[in-house]
Amino acid sequence: MQSKRINMMNKNFKRTLITSALPYANGPVHIGHLAGVYVPADIYARYLRLKGEEVLFIGGSDEHGVPIALKAKAEGVTPQQVVDRYHTIIKKSFEDFGISFDIYSRTSSDIHKKTAADFFRTLYDKGEFVEQTSEQYYDEEAHQFLADRYITGKCPHCGAERAYGDQCEACGTSLSPLDLLEPKSAISGSVPVLKETKHWYLPLDKHEAWLKKWILDDHKEWKSNVYGQCKSWLDMGLQPRAVSRDLNWGVPVPVEGAEGKVLYVWFDAPIGYISNTIEVCGAQPEKYGDWEKWWKDELTKLVHFIGKDNIVFHCIVFPAMLKADGSYILPENVPANEFLNLESDKISTSRNHAVWLNEYLNEFPDKQDVLRYVLTANAPETKDNDFTWKDFQARNNNELVAILGNFVNRVLVLTHKFFEGKVPARTAPTDYDQQTLDEFASVKRELEANLETFRFRDALKEAMNLARIGNKYLADTEPWKLVKTDMARTATILNIALQITANLAIAFEPFLPFSSNKIKQLIGTSDLHWAQLGAADLLPVNHQLNEPTLLFEKIEDEAIARQVQKLG
Ligand code: 2FM
Ligand code: ZN
Repeated sequence: MQSKRINMMNKNFKRTLITSALPYANGPVHIGHLAGVYVPADIYARYLRLKGEEVLFIGGSDEHGVPIALKAKAEGVTPQQVVDRYHTIIKKSFEDFGISFDIYSRTSSDIHKKTAADFFRTLYDKGEFVEQTSEQYYDEEAHQFLADRYITGKCPHCGAERAYGDQCEACGTSLSPLDLLEPKSAISGSVPVLKETKHWYLPLDKHEAWLKKWILDDHKEWKSNVYGQCKSWLDMGLQPRAVSRDLNWGVPVPVEGAEGKVLYVWFDAPIGYISNTIEVCGAQPEKYGDWEKWWKDELTKLVHFIGKDNIVFHCIVFPAMLKADGSYILPENVPANEFLNLESDKISTSRNHAVWLNEYLNEFPDKQDVLRYVLTANAPETKDNDFTWKDFQARNNNELVAILGNFVNRVLVLTHKFFEGKVPARTAPTDYDQQTLDEFASVKRELEANLETFRFRDALKEAMNLARIGNKYLADTEPWKLVKTDMARTATILNIALQITANLAIAFEPFLPFSSNKIKQLIGTSDLHWAQLGAADLLPVNHQLNEPTLLFEKIEDEAIARQVQKLG
């Protein structure tokens, strides 16, 4: 038992399948999405690729569910028109921010509809569902059952007026429509009646025993927020969950007698990870191979990046679905983040209290890395965190500009001034030189340990430490003074400083891909790998560097004041 666990944890995985939560295509994405899910997932994917590992990074839009149907109704358009609009906007935002998905697809695709229907059908044929008829609210004016957000009412826990049939947003409690006091149809406003309807349930209670062992015993290494939430669900005891809804937007339930019923959005959405794998492997088989190796080989390490509101679905419900099928692997880790607040207040779409990614880029074109940096440095990894524009400005001006940008710029300017932009030759290093180079090896170890365990804030701090080491090295050795008396020593110092610069391009690639590329372009090299991090011979003597330009610019008070004002 004990030895089996150790075995599992030390398993030599051959490849990594990274999934990131599929955002609902009913609005653009904001900084909370980026900080919670996509930047960390992208850092991890980039890091593994830079190490030369086999990686597949899956993204896509979640295009079903009641909120999308409701939005369409409110706007007088079809749900497909709603998701077409936002899928395009979201996809572009991710591209703009360098989120390096191997595929960004969508759950309204034909491949997904087929994959999700087949998945349901397999479980259905195996007898993995329980069929049950129950009374649910029905709108007699609209002639429609009222699932989830189609019904509103008073929260039985906190008394808030507009709680939904699946959740009260005021107190966060998850609800079922029958819990609501004074229920009302969100379509017609009428008081609904109860009417019988049949649905399919995944009997989570039957999965409880193995889930308990798998999570609580075998995955004690999961982040404490994730483990804790799973434990509390498991301790409360699991109940069967309906996987179908009476709705006309979604994947039709693929069995006889299910007219007017679709798969529950939380049943089909995670299957989207599989559909998108099938799609990308089908499109580029030479690059990605057969899709099944990503989902059915024990040597694949499956990692789900999500926000904390998705924990139960990814740690309990989806694994139960995969297990019920029987041919799939289970996630090895689910590094969920907490939430990001904005200026001490919850990010809110309805109140427009958010920083939308598309709008950010209009205000700060070419500053993708600044936002990536701030969101990682301040990521809500262990608790909810706050984004403030002041902190954004301070981190840009005091860290990116003053430490990283300043170092790279000084090295390049000095090399151009004293050595015509060519890498000067190095003589034997002094003890101090050697000590500086040795520090790199220890930072590299820390950096890796943090990246491997999803501690991206700490990892970024380590990367920044490399730039600090570089700055300190220049400040201590003062090549701009030495040049008057000792050209050979000046050459050695700048050679080492340039090697440090090349190292920075490697260390920052996962975090700041645009700036890393810019550094590579400045030093005239493109081919750098993670294995080379810590090496002191990345740039050969006489190698020609390009003209220096600034990596980062100061952000002035006015620009920040404008953003704060915009939030009202
Ligand atoms: O919470 C959300 O935004 C969901 N659309 C996440 C779905 S994740 C996965 F299951 F697709
Ligand atoms: Zn409530």
